[in-house]
Amino acid sequence: MAEMLLSPIPIKEEHRATVARLAIASHKNPIDIKTVLPWSQGIDRSIAPKRIDQLWIHGTEYVGQLNDEQKLEVAWKEIARDVSMFIWLEQKIPVLYVNMVHKNMGRLSKEVEEYLMVFSKEEIVHTLMFKRYLEMAGLEMFSQPEILTKLLEEVLPNLAPSVTIMVTMIIEWVAENAVMRSTQESGIEPLTREMFHQHHIDELRHIAFARWLGESYFASCSEEDAKLAQVILKEVYYKLLENFSFNPEIARHTSFEFPVDPNDSEAIARVQKSEHNNQLNASRFADIENWLIKVGVL
Ligand SMILES: [Fe+2]
Ligand SMILES: [Fe+2]
Repeated sequence: MAEMLLSPIPIKEEHRATVARLAIASHKNPIDIKTVLPWSQGIDRSIAPKRIDQLWIHGTEYVGQLNDEQKLEVAWKEIARDVSMFIWLEQKIPVLYVNMVHKNMGRLSKEVEEYLMVFSKEEIVHTLMFKRYLEMAGLEMFSQPEILTKLLEEVLPNLAPSVTIMVTMIIEWVAENAVMRSTQESGIEPLTREMFHQHHIDELRHIAFARWLGESYFASCSEEDAKLAQVILKEVYYKLLENFSFNPEIARHTSFEFPVDPNDSEAIARVQKSEHNNQLNASRFADIENWLIKVGVL
């Protein structure tokens, strides 16, 4: 086995220096809410904030029931959901991570301890940026998805810290890939595109950190603990696939009657498992699945 610092958050010796470098990179270029985006330019709701061919109902029988104006509205509401998802999650990450640091004072590697604090600080700043964006765009928050409520309130605070870090990472990674794949092209509303790009720079570090900690955990934990972590990660990942393929709450947010009835569970399942969504998920989440295979989850 590789050299390993065994602590409440184990880390392979080889990753300690790389984690230290993540913190240095973060301090070099921290997000400043005031200047990170050209806020004075405003947000143009007449331009699509994401690719229209990645609307959740694209490729299903329902999309034909929308005219172009309605598709544009749906695109904005889908972005509101994505941003809401980040806010719900990222408001909770500092609570979880600072608690880990507090509970384990003196027992964590100093690199991990520092980076957990940096990570938390960055998520607070992201939350502020996302809230400012929603307000400026005149978009409403979506409610906290059930999967997050249960995980964040009941499950994660009681798991091994490394497993909590992996689970939050999987949520962020799925959300990241979904927004990056749909917004980083010419023709997308500029402030929206730039916001997700800026967020992504920090998130790449968060994902790298959590992957290293996850791999360190699996290399040192008991078989039983590994099994438990794998089961949780798998369940969360599959729930996220559904959630990012279609969220029925959208029907509450559109100014017109949404073609998918939020009470029709068969219709919802059909959209979530549509050929288009299956193909999109296989391609946009391929790197996540490869990692989950590597650590024995899939
Ligand atoms: Fe973030
Ligand atoms: Fe993050």
